Amino acid sequence: MKPTIEVLTDKAELIERSQTVIVEKIRGAIAQQGRCTIALAGGSTPKPIYGAIAQKDLPWDKLFIFWGDERYVARDHPDSNQGMARSVWLDQVPIPAENVFPVPTMAPEPAAAAASYEQTLRDFFQVSGAAVPRLDIVLLGLGEDAHTASLFPHTEALQVRDRLVTVGNKLGEARLTVTVPLINQAHSVIFIVSGANKQEALAHVFSAESDDMAYPARLIQPRGEVWWLLDAAAGANLGLSAG
Ligand code: 6PG
Repeated sequence: MKPTIEVLTDKAELIERSQTVIVEKIRGAIAQQGRCTIALAGGSTPKPIYGAIAQKDLPWDKLFIFWGDERYVARDHPDSNQGMARSVWLDQVPIPAENVFPVPTMAPEPAAAAASYEQTLRDFFQVSGAAVPRLDIVLLGLGEDAHTASLFPHTEALQVRDRLVTVGNKLGEARLTVTVPLINQAHSVIFIVSGANKQEALAHVFSAESDDMAYPARLIQPRGEVWWLLDAAAGANLGLSAG
């Protein structure tokens, strides 16, 4: 499906538009199927968006939270994606604790944690074998190197097609990440990208000839819809008008 690309005037507009699109998708999924499953992105860009969503009046008991990736740290570590989302959003709303599925990061081996999270996904979605669950929404950011989730350039995680969760590798730092097949199975994938420092990555993602292994976000070709919500600083050279 052709991506929807929106370039917003500035970061404030990007935050506002992002929360509007996400909330619309949440409400739509709940209206259609009685629940919404969403995988959250980490990093800094989503933080104010999560804070804005926390202000909304949503049927929180019908929303089920997963993560697209996680640093291999405890939940109270400043780098924790779970910790970030809880601090500005999940701990601020009456979402049942059993609706939130954090990535386990305390197993001695990241690979064991990845297998455990995979089983959590399989159990929740009641899938087994080669079946790939279909999340309603997957939120993604974009690194300056065009990584997304914790799918970093030229790493083994990019090639994993027979699992839902694997160990990512950021310059030797272990991370846990959902795999390309799981992201591409989603109903709605929403990239949210801010800042001039992401221009080059975006140019490679949208170019005809760049290398998928060098620019991993190029691997995200969902069967469902994909949104790119950019601020003008990030989207400046894509030849798209803001607003
Ligand atoms: C993470 C994210 C990662 C992030 C990008 C962009 O755990 O860091 O999942 O993929 O989305 O690195 O990060 P910023 O939003 O901080 O630029």
